[in-house]
Amino acid sequence: MATKGKGLGKGLTNYGDPAFSLYLRRSFAKSMGYSSEMLGRPVVGIADSKSGFNNCHRHFPELIEAVKRGVLGAGGLPIEFPTVSLGEVFLSPTSMMFRNLMSIDVEEMIRAQPMDSVVLIGGCDKTVPAQLMGAASADLPAVQLLAGPMMPTSFHGERLGACTDCRRFWAMHRAGKVDEKGIEEVEGNLATTAGTCAVMGTASTMASIAEALGMALPGTAAIPAVHADRLRAAEASGARAVELAKNPLRPSQIITAKSVENATRVLLAIGGSTNAIIHLTAIAGRAGIRVDLNKLNEWSDSTPVLVDLKPTGQYYMSDLYAAGGVGAVLRELKPLLHLDCMTVAGITLGERLEHEPTWVDRAVVLPLAQPLSDQGGLVALFGSLAPNGAILKRSAADPKLFEKEGRAIVFSNLDDLSARIDDPNLDVTADDFLVLQNAGPKSGYAMPEAGYLPIPAKLARAGVKDMVRMSDARMSGTAYGTIVLHISPESAAGGPLALVKNGDRIRISVKKRSIDLLVPPEELQKRKAAWKPPVEMPKRGYAQLYMKHVLQAEDGCDFDFLRKA
Ligand code: FES
Repeated sequence: MATKGKGLGKGLTNYGDPAFSLYLRRSFAKSMGYSSEMLGRPVVGIADSKSGFNNCHRHFPELIEAVKRGVLGAGGLPIEFPTVSLGEVFLSPTSMMFRNLMSIDVEEMIRAQPMDSVVLIGGCDKTVPAQLMGAASADLPAVQLLAGPMMPTSFHGERLGACTDCRRFWAMHRAGKVDEKGIEEVEGNLATTAGTCAVMGTASTMASIAEALGMALPGTAAIPAVHADRLRAAEASGARAVELAKNPLRPSQIITAKSVENATRVLLAIGGSTNAIIHLTAIAGRAGIRVDLNKLNEWSDSTPVLVDLKPTGQYYMSDLYAAGGVGAVLRELKPLLHLDCMTVAGITLGERLEHEPTWVDRAVVLPLAQPLSDQGGLVALFGSLAPNGAILKRSAADPKLFEKEGRAIVFSNLDDLSARIDDPNLDVTADDFLVLQNAGPKSGYAMPEAGYLPIPAKLARAGVKDMVRMSDARMSGTAYGTIVLHISPESAAGGPLALVKNGDRIRISVKKRSIDLLVPPEELQKRKAAWKPPVEMPKRGYAQLYMKHVLQAEDGCDFDFLRKA
């Protein structure tokens, strides 16, 4: 029998008579066929983010069944509930605009509904950050269960996987090397199973971060979506959630300054997505922890890249699982990690690593002493063009372009970019810097993954594969190139990026961590006086809430009122 303050008796609906509220709740729960014995068990909520608009989550019904099996076997009562789902390619203007909305949904529903712990099931890019942000704010014991990556597909003698190969073939199509029929055939072979993008894109990076933070059970981040181990991980997550309901271990005990540093080191060692910096900053912000981009540079300089996955390397996420998973990476990084961090499994990171099998495939996970690269994949740049910082994924960039001055070819927004980038009369050479303005959080486009500016068609046809590109936008974790992103403050907030004009000179130096607009300050002041915000405040609804409250990239693009004071 459910009693007040526990399980189904938590957080009663207020009718002015708590005993009546409990009696009414039990009665309505019984209408679903539950026995009194079941209703007296600890309640494990299962936050389900499946949707017909989310291909990556199409196997969630099977995962939920396995979670329930684990909960029931451990003596709990599993109750699933729907939340917002964010299918990366199905949302306009971009899923990023709705990450905070989903985080509010998750936070409020796990706080408002009667549950003692929760299993969060997510995977597609923004869903895991949203769930972790919500869980950190609600601070209810929570286990993150990941969707798992898609399997690559054998196609014409090679393996294809979303979405690095999506971009590779599209670039070949734009360069005239793959015709219409060919690209249609590729389209049907890029994403062929359930699960998240098959490379070390944002979803795989966030899955690895969830495990490194300690919020997902050890060894579960890289299991392919269609592998039987994924179902066993779901069952184990359900069983663990029952233990957490009885002996609470809260996100605030797991997401700490030390575990955020561990997660950042893992992000760097796996050559993870630039988006993950924004998401990790937002998750940490919900726990009152600040991610400092200067610290990121320090950690990046002392954390080697160990994992050889696309988009920077050759393998897929399913190969990482077969090679030893995130545990193999953590073992290599051991000397750099805080081993006393608590994990959701109820043991510390150090205890976890002591007890794990030690097999590793060295083709995929390299030893700390012989890394793929001595330094981490991401670097923050600062300077007169980005006073609050910008990010470059150096592991996905061409080192020949790291120390360079170039002429700015400016596109004032995304519409301008798509109208002119392929114009045969565009005055552009491979030595120029392509600059995109007004694609940041407050631009009206909500910081889309548009930072991977296409190489102008006439240069692509001439064989140019990379050039310096910069913007206040984000970039898909599956993309590559010498691309400076997240420039802050953004153009739409009147940052220096808004003042760049065609023909201005810009200098970047990865060595000096700098990015500078080489225009005299008096001239910039004149331009600033003439600058006008490019978008009006939306008249109503979530768009207005978003525009009023979204913060810049260095604050994780969270809403100001959601961060922990
Ligand atoms: Fe869902 Fe890539 S589209 S993870």
